[in-house]
Amino acid sequence: MRPETRNRLQLAIIALLLLVIAAMAWKFIVAGSVGQGEDGRQALLLEPAERAFILQEMRDFVAGLQQMTEALAREDMAGVAAAARGMGSAMSHQAPAALVAKLPLGFKTLGFGVHRDFDALAADAEDLGDPGHALEQLSQALRKCVACHEIYQIGAPSGRQSGREG
Ligand code: HEC
Repeated sequence: MRPETRNRLQLAIIALLLLVIAAMAWKFIVAGSVGQGEDGRQALLLEPAERAFILQEMRDFVAGLQQMTEALAREDMAGVAAAARGMGSAMSHQAPAALVAKLPLGFKTLGFGVHRDFDALAADAEDLGDPGHALEQLSQALRKCVACHEIYQIGAPSGRQSGREG
């Protein structure tokens, strides 16, 4: 093989590998594993255990909101901060990597965003101790719950549409 030919071949292989890496990065970071839901929303195609993981996190949100509103009504800002911290970024770090790879970028942006909102709420509740400000931040965070539910639902991997087994 002539040196120029070998160089071209090596460049072609490098270009091909870069393409494969870019395609994988796009799939795992941007696209995720998504299909068309029955009600027009995008359906995350997840295994039953992954669906259970997400739904558990959602119910933890509701429990956290209950604690937060109870503390807010008493103007107990340490209680507000504790409830908010429970819904903060520490919560999202428990998500398995295989699940995160299936989540599209829009979902991750809203999901991590809502956790960061609660981090900020916890910090401000401690620093400022202002219930009105906390309530304002809470309503901003809740917008992300609403927005995400409008866009996404959870489906099953292809061939196993949820609720249509057998
Ligand atoms: C990043 C997207 C996203 C965000 C943000 C989000 N959710 Fe969800 N939530 C979902 C998806 C997807 C489902 C499943 C819906 C479906 O399959 O129809 C869900 C389901 C739920 C459920 C049903 C749980 C069950 O066991 O069936 C509750 C309750 C819920 N979310 C509450 C919340 C609350 C409260 C917030 C905000 C604090 C929130 N969610 C933020 C995506 C999100």
